[in-house]
Amino acid sequence: MSKQMEPAQSYWDARSALFANYYIKPSLFDRMFRSGVYGRVAEAIKCCRDIPGATVLDAGSGPGINSVSLIKNAGASHVTGIDFSQQMVDFAEKVAKSENVDVKTKFILGDVLTHNFAGQVFDFSMALGVLDYTEDSQQFITRISALTTNAFVVSWPENGIRMRLRRHRYTCPLFHYDLEQIQKIHAISGISAANLRVTKIAGGWVTTAKKR
Ligand SMILES: C[S@@+](CC[C@H](N)C(=O)[O-])C[C@H]1O[C@@H](n2cnc3c(N)ncnc32)[C@H](O)[C@@H]1O
Repeated sequence: MSKQMEPAQSYWDARSALFANYYIKPSLFDRMFRSGVYGRVAEAIKCCRDIPGATVLDAGSGPGINSVSLIKNAGASHVTGIDFSQQMVDFAEKVAKSENVDVKTKFILGDVLTHNFAGQVFDFSMALGVLDYTEDSQQFITRISALTTNAFVVSWPENGIRMRLRRHRYTCPLFHYDLEQIQKIHAISGISAANLRVTKIAGGWVTTAKKR
């Protein structure tokens, strides 16, 4: 019998606490098999530290743990998180409050692709664990690039055994990439190969795109 599929939005709406626990209470399994989750934010922190007092867009901010981390560990002056799951937004607001950084954060309920940012742009953007659920990755990267003035960091899952296991388990559509596609998507969005750094992490890659 084929399983019932659902959109990523409702999939994540039911899993805000579960996902947050990858950071808050990581199990041995998480540390061994989900190390990419930690590797990708380490890259984002490294890049954001090079932009003193950066304003940040956390696209697909989920439980907000990484948004808070950029304030606390990368010297960001303000982080705007956006997520299309209400449960994730509520969770992120609670995390920011409990970490006393609520005045430096704002969490918006919305779709990265369609939200009206009213002309606002950000020094630094990140989309970690989001392209896995994004059908039109070209449109997504073009949008992120347009919203960012300095640099953006994005994670990209690869195909392989882990992706096959996830496809078996997850009830929302999942997408994967290869290096050629990643470079082409950036090139179409105006990021040349010279301005793109690709780093291998467990389960895929993380890219750093420099806009200047
Ligand atoms: C796997 S979670 C990752 C959360 C966070 N970036 C992290 O790394 O901890 C993916 C999140 O992206 C959100 N998401 C996916 N596509 C989105 C879109 N187009 N607009 C807003 N949120 C999106 C989902 O609702 C989910 O909360």
